[in-house]
Amino acid sequence: MLLKRICWVFSFVFLASLAVQAAPTIEEGKNLFTANCAACHAKNMRDNLTGPALAGLDDRWAAYPRADLYAWIRNSQAMVASGHPRAVELWNQWKPTPMNSFTGLTDDQIESIVLYINDAATAKPQGPVTPEASADGTESSGNMWLFASLALILALLAFALMRIIDNLGNITRVQAGEVPVQRTFFQVLTTKGSIAFLVFALTLIFGYKTVDNATRMGRSQNYQPDQPIAFSHKLHAGANKIDCQYCHDSARRSKHSLIPGSNTCMNCHAAVKKGTQTGTSEITKIFASIGFDPIANKYIPDYDGWSEQQIADLYKKWIGQEYMSANSLAAMNDAGRSAVETQWEGVLKALKDDSNGRIQGPIEWVRVHNLPDHAYFNHAQHVAIGQIACQKCHGTVEEMEIVYQYSSLGMGWCINCHRETEVKFNDNEYYKQYARYHEELKAGVRTKVTVADIGGLECQKCHY
Ligand code: HEC
Ligand code: HEC
Ligand code: HEC
Ligand code: HEC
Ligand code: HEC
Ligand code: HEC
Repeated sequence: MLLKRICWVFSFVFLASLAVQAAPTIEEGKNLFTANCAACHAKNMRDNLTGPALAGLDDRWAAYPRADLYAWIRNSQAMVASGHPRAVELWNQWKPTPMNSFTGLTDDQIESIVLYINDAATAKPQGPVTPEASADGTESSGNMWLFASLALILALLAFALMRIIDNLGNITRVQAGEVPVQRTFFQVLTTKGSIAFLVFALTLIFGYKTVDNATRMGRSQNYQPDQPIAFSHKLHAGANKIDCQYCHDSARRSKHSLIPGSNTCMNCHAAVKKGTQTGTSEITKIFASIGFDPIANKYIPDYDGWSEQQIADLYKKWIGQEYMSANSLAAMNDAGRSAVETQWEGVLKALKDDSNGRIQGPIEWVRVHNLPDHAYFNHAQHVAIGQIACQKCHGTVEEMEIVYQYSSLGMGWCINCHRETEVKFNDNEYYKQYARYHEELKAGVRTKVTVADIGGLECQKCHY
């Protein structure tokens, strides 16, 4: 019986752990807002206080990846420093009052707050709401399969344990002169306990709305998603020897190593308008995202106000020149026209935002690396202070046509390096505070100081 209990307990714990991260709710949002935001943002969401009215927030951030809004709330000043257009615009309006940083808020908690903001702004009757249910819908069917297979594995495991229990039982039965029993898979499956468990498990699994966790399971070592633009590190960082930090310049200054915006690409691509391999098809995406007219060689002043038709006309003409040296699409033959259409489809697919139909705005690169919310990792600490090369953690990115996740990013990976790596103790001001180690080093009692020695194995250093 003990085995059976253990088996139940494990299954429960496992399933319960899947459900811990509850979906965002207005209720949670209200509490978080009251505790953290209400000091500066009006509760009716319509008045300006120390901070601006938050009603209509979603619309103002719709042109950017959702992660930008999260980043803003976690550390608005870092975003201003990174030159994010919305952040800079806000700062120009509201300086010199900076908003507080809320590094501890998870994505789900921020979604809760946004739910509450939208709810309070429209003052609709309250109730639990599923955010962007449709946006998640496409992903969730794949995850359902994942959960279904997990359930199956659990069922098989339970069955195997039942067999062991039966066999143990049979030993005593035989000793007592009774007839041994041998239950089939079906019999085991139809015991009351199993049915109750199955019902419980199914309710839990299918009621489990935040597919977030499962999405994350897919993002692991060697993860190599397709990107909206065929951007090659091999070509840029390898063949053209562009320094990593030319594009990822926040790596040595801040927690995140940001992906460069189209304006960084334009430093070169205002001149390099065609690639040897992909012609205009990929670089046109940069132009269409930022509003650069490659024919007239200038930025389009009111690009934000352009319609899809206007945008299509300009860039199809540009793509068309590449194909036919014809100045009007009408003067082109069918093959040329269809080539232009295909390429334009590609641009739309890469840039057009499903939620608002806009082409303008930042390129939405697919994130490759993603630690869970409870883990804290800081680039500046490793790149600037620890002086670790990007390649040590990310592999030889300069040889990668498409970037993939080179390291496991598991806890063991972090810990191992902290155990092994010596901190560059002597020539760094930052370590002056560790006076004792300095004395020990001088006295020869100690030959080296590892990251572990300076607290790199303490749970709270890496966990919120
Ligand atoms: C110390 C005052 C203060 C607190 C506390 C504060 N904010 Fe702000 N917030 C501001 C200011 C000021 C701005 C304007 C931009 C700036 O100064 O950088 C702002 C701007 C914003 C914006 C951008 C609004 C827009 O229209 O795009 C969002 C979103 C936001 N705050 C959300 C929050 C949330 C969520 C919280 C609580 C977790 C919070 N703020 C707490 C002061 C604050
Ligand atoms: C010309 C600009 C440019 C240069 C130079 C560059 N990168 Fe990138 N990097 C990008 C862009 C754009 C992306 C996003 C698209 C992608 O993932 O390929 C990116 C993505 C990445 C990612 C994956 C980020 C994620 O989503 O998790 C890593 C890691 C990375 N770069 C490391 C490097 C390293 C290391 C170097 C130097 C060897 C380097 N990059 C040089 C532009 C650049
Ligand atoms: C420091 C200069 C520089 C920067 C910054 C830069 N590129 Fe490039 N890029 C080049 C050069 C040089 C080429 C090579 C053109 C060729 O193929 O001959 C190129 C080629 C390309 C190509 C075409 C590849 C082919 O062979 O068809 C694409 C697509 C591209 N870059 C995307 C980007 C993106 C996206 C960014 C910004 C994240 C970016 N580049 C930033 C210099 C740069
Ligand atoms: C000590 C290991 C380590 C070093 C060194 C390192 N990275 Fe990272 N990098 C990571 C981890 C871990 C993540 C995932 C962070 C997360 O999800 O919060 C990451 C994420 C990224 C991302 C995705 C955006 C982000 O910050 O989440 C980019 C881009 C990137 N690294 C580029 C670089 C570049 C460029 C360098 C060198 C200047 C570098 N990294 C050095 C470990 C490292
Ligand atoms: C390639 C080696 C390496 C890897 C991998 C690595 N680190 Fe580090 N880490 C260092 C070094 C070196 C330092 C020392 C820099 C310093 O003194 O701040 C450091 C320091 C830290 C610190 C500050 C410790 C303190 O006491 O101030 C934290 C937090 C941290 N790392 C988190 C992580 C996390 C989380 C991961 C995994 C996602 C990770 N590191 C992976 C080498 C590494
Ligand atoms: C050097 C950084 C670092 C230190 C120190 C650290 N952790 Fe972690 N921990 C991580 C990272 C990164 C992850 C996420 C791993 C993943 O995604 O698989 C993690 C994951 C976890 C998890 C979740 C299990 C999982 O695999 O996702 C638990 C629980 C945990 N850590 C507990 C602890 C405890 C307890 C300590 C102190 C004894 C500790 N950690 C110290 C970096 C660290």
